[in-house]
Amino acid sequence: MINTDRAPLIKGLLSYHEEGNALFHMPGHKQDPHGILHSLLGNVLKLDVTEIPGTDNLHYPEEILKESMDLLTGAMRSAESRYLVNGSTGGILAMVMGCFRPGDRVLVQRDCHQSVYNAISLSGIEPVFISPGSNEEFGIPTAIEAGTVVRAIASNIGLKGLILTSPSYFGVSPDLQAISEVCSRNGLKLLVDEAHGSHFYFGDDLPMTAMDCGAAVSVLSFHKTLPALTQGSVINLGKDASEEDMDRIRHYLRVFQTSSPSYVLMASLESARMIMETEGRERLKGLKSMIEGFSESIRDIPELRLLSNEDLKGLQKDYTRLVLNTPLGGNFLSDLLRRDYGIQAEMAMGNNIVFLGSCFDDEGMYHRLSAAILDLDMKGLFKESLSGRISTGVSKLPSPVISIPEREALFEGWEEVTFEMAEGRICAERITPYPPGVPVLMTGELVSRDAVEHLMRLEESGANILKSRSGGRGTIAVII
Ligand SMILES: Cc1ncc(COP(=O)(O)O)c(C=O)c1O
Repeated sequence: MINTDRAPLIKGLLSYHEEGNALFHMPGHKQDPHGILHSLLGNVLKLDVTEIPGTDNLHYPEEILKESMDLLTGAMRSAESRYLVNGSTGGILAMVMGCFRPGDRVLVQRDCHQSVYNAISLSGIEPVFISPGSNEEFGIPTAIEAGTVVRAIASNIGLKGLILTSPSYFGVSPDLQAISEVCSRNGLKLLVDEAHGSHFYFGDDLPMTAMDCGAAVSVLSFHKTLPALTQGSVINLGKDASEEDMDRIRHYLRVFQTSSPSYVLMASLESARMIMETEGRERLKGLKSMIEGFSESIRDIPELRLLSNEDLKGLQKDYTRLVLNTPLGGNFLSDLLRRDYGIQAEMAMGNNIVFLGSCFDDEGMYHRLSAAILDLDMKGLFKESLSGRISTGVSKLPSPVISIPEREALFEGWEEVTFEMAEGRICAERITPYPPGVPVLMTGELVSRDAVEHLMRLEESGANILKSRSGGRGTIAVII
């Protein structure tokens, strides 16, 4: 055994592996419990090469990478699909920069991931924010409704497009078909962040995909829900995307991605596509029945609820994402599960705990989860602890008012003040509760009363709030 005393990162990672936890989190390969990936990618060093004769070039693909991405294009039912080696983040930047000019007015779902906010900041588009619906019992946002898009188009002239998320972190998808029709009738480009929905392309009983609904572009984190290595993502250029947009997107993919893409990562994207094409449908079916078995096993615990289609009025829930609502509070239950039962969830927020299922899961994981929850119930934990509702901070986000573009605001002097003192001033930092990574305030935004109250509620609920400049609780960096 090699001594890892001076390798704290490797030591930490190996020690997590050795704990033998049930992995209900990303990446979707779940550390390959069946040894399938090992047979394809096992000797990673043999696959770790660079651009030499015979290995092609991601940025100008003509040979094996082109062949591999042509197969991907077929699986995604797109006009062209490409590997991304910088996660969906890089793809989202390229898609927004490629589709819109600076100053274009674009509808943007308010609770988009921060990578969309980065794209807004870099591209200079003018966002018109629209809010998703929400489910008050779970305290979560759901998805954008087609009616919301229709109303936003009627009250805003000159819109060029719509950027939305499908599915959400909680596995909720909008009626993408209806929204796509509204967009095409009104000449709006539809751009979809499908980071959490790669598996939709390979199974049944799942929400519709962006490509099947006629979106212009979509971006998918294969690594989140499929057996691919972390950072491995894909961008789909739709059949209706214009050649000019595609050309600009290809340009920006070269700008935002490394000139030394990892062949190991790209090989893992190829193997994920191949596994899903050949075995995905059956594996997803198996996963569905394991999840149904688990849901059934905890059905009689009255204090617990699992998010389902019945809670979502016409929207569609991804069955692979389990959202469990508990009076214990999501973070408390998550800590208990890890400490006492060796179960690691994907995330916890408010009263919810989210478990990420993938078709590399095995039945034992679900038996373990079920046994742990039944044990906690037997000990009376769910009954004792009616802690009330804990704010998730995302079901109703304040409306942003951008005063100074972020790129300019970052050059201004700033000071740290209390929440109360910040009202009416211009924010000098990004304030992002994590999870889920949706900014409450951007640099250059007016700090509204709503934003101040929202942040106070979040802090009270113990949310993890990332702030890029100010240090303490209850403070914000504002421009001097
Ligand atoms: C909705 C959403 N979009 C985009 C991203 C960025 O994806 P990646 O981590 O692959 O860059 C994330 C990451 O968590 C996400 O949750």
